[in-house]
Amino acid sequence: MLGGFELTDATDVPELGSFLFTVRDMHGEHDEAILVRCADPEAAPPEGAVLDSVEADDADGDDDSSEPLAVEAWINRCPHEDQRLDRGQGAAMRDGQVICPKHGSMFDSCSGYCDNGEAKGTNLVPLDLEIEDGVVYLTDDDYRLVGAGGIDDDDDGPSSTSHIGF
Ligand code: FES
Repeated sequence: MLGGFELTDATDVPELGSFLFTVRDMHGEHDEAILVRCADPEAAPPEGAVLDSVEADDADGDDDSSEPLAVEAWINRCPHEDQRLDRGQGAAMRDGQVICPKHGSMFDSCSGYCDNGEAKGTNLVPLDLEIEDGVVYLTDDDYRLVGAGGIDDDDDGPSSTSHIGF
């Protein structure tokens, strides 16, 4: 088993949308992050980003379901302004890009880069992750997993299920 924090099964990351979770940084501050599917596993990630993939489930035995299922993790915040990309119902996505709900800039789900609109020239903040046996692990030295869900999802904060896998 990998060192790190178990997040979820890679197949739980929606094809259109995102898996929202909460992390704590080295200063003890909570932040939200999202897992999204990466539409183009061949895309070159920016320095520091990690491209992880797992073979998709082949429930029906068809060859077409053996495409690698890649996911990426990003801090849930548009770099243009302090705007959550996933506001609790999943981030809006189209054509392999995450759409900022405030001004509509679109970020490549694989690289995090934006080449359009108000946020043009910026990049989402990546988190390191790895996949083993179809399970996504947060392996970023700068963040610890607090739990699934957003910071304000309920009065008790995000769930703090036992994801520690060191
Ligand atoms: S806040 Fe996201 S593009 Fe402006």
